[in-house]
Amino acid sequence: MNSFVYDIPVKVYFGENQLGHLGEELSKFGKRVLLTYGGGSIKRIGLYDKVMAELTKAGLEVFELSGIEPNPRIESVRKGAEMCKEHNIDVLLAVGGGSTIDATKFMAAGACVDHDPWDFLNEKWAPIEKALPIVSILTLSATGSEMDMGGVISNLDTRDKIGRLARPMLPRVSFLDPTLTYSVSPYQTACGSVDIFSHIIEVYFNMEPDLYMLDCFMEGMMKTIVKFAPVALREPENYEARANLMWTSSWAINGFINGGKRKAWSCHPMEHELSAIYDITHGLGLALLTPRWMEYCLDESNVSKYVQFAVNVFGVDGSQEPMVVAREGIRLLAKFFFDTLGLPRTFTEVGIKREDYAVMARKACGAEGILRGFKDLTPADVEKIFEMCE
Ligand code: NZQ
Ligand code: ZN
Repeated sequence: MNSFVYDIPVKVYFGENQLGHLGEELSKFGKRVLLTYGGGSIKRIGLYDKVMAELTKAGLEVFELSGIEPNPRIESVRKGAEMCKEHNIDVLLAVGGGSTIDATKFMAAGACVDHDPWDFLNEKWAPIEKALPIVSILTLSATGSEMDMGGVISNLDTRDKIGRLARPMLPRVSFLDPTLTYSVSPYQTACGSVDIFSHIIEVYFNMEPDLYMLDCFMEGMMKTIVKFAPVALREPENYEARANLMWTSSWAINGFINGGKRKAWSCHPMEHELSAIYDITHGLGLALLTPRWMEYCLDESNVSKYVQFAVNVFGVDGSQEPMVVAREGIRLLAKFFFDTLGLPRTFTEVGIKREDYAVMARKACGAEGILRGFKDLTPADVEKIFEMCE
């Protein structure tokens, strides 16, 4: 296996009644705070008032940027970066789901440079060497943005949705209170659960050598989602279910399970192209793609990993023929996404059209023309996977 560095310096306050620490944590970075949030859910659940009360109590000066979109747009990032410069902001406080936190990360980086923040993501790939400090309060368990250094931004003009990792964008502190996710809709709960699952699958199905300990950890996390996502759907205010989903979301993508694996992910690059053109929810795109991608990639050389997945995550009887066991694991995963979580099962249902397959497949494979993941995929392979989703 590969050597690796473990270094995840995000301070996490987990659980209820932790917001009392917000003022003290923000004050470490200065007095002037840019509070960022989305379309208003934080007001509807009463969180906005609680946050403002803490900020006022700590004597902080607050500037606000609201309206950050799901699949956040570069326009919001530009606006936030400008506000940071104009108001001499010391620290950004992102309150919301992955979209708000992601956009805030690029605002924090954009505040430290003179160029357009889109240059971090377009072909210029401008370096991200600095960012203002970021603190987050998570309200939706899905992306893991609260504990990772990544962010994904959409540009409707160019029909792009592009992600980037940069260490300065890691939140310094994140508040994870499962009760803040009680109000998340069944649809977003389902999509978030698929996203968490996918972050694990992208690492678990990877032809680089595995660390047994990490495989067990990943299987445990996948079982956690299979157990608790349906509970959260049935009983939105079940603390145990929401807490398990929330902590799994952070650990699925904070770098720990990666254990030195360097192969690229497969379903995420494909999904970002679906979201870029159709503006669909990220987790929905992943649900559509993942079981089909698994089926497409399955062969004699990798069947043992599928068997391990089927037996250890879904409890399939491993004494049968390996191919039978592998296919049963894929079938149960699809059943979980589409029947248990209730997500649409085809491109047709969500309006994704054949005419866009070629361009989405080409872009998913990047400049090199190959998606180097679990199994290397050409644009023609990706188009075939899209066809399997119809
Ligand atoms: O905008 P508001 O009003 O806040 O409503 C949001 C939004 O409509 C709502 N919501 C959030 N918390 C809520 C709530 N509604 C009721 N109660 C609450 N407590 O949910 C909707 C979706 O929010 P969004 O932030 O878009 O969802 P998510 O957290 O799934 O983020 C998705 C974005 O993150 C990117 C995705 O591509 C997508 O753009 N990703 C980021 C990653 C990362 N940073 O590492 C990795 C992921 O793979 C992913 O690509
Ligand atoms: Zn994801």
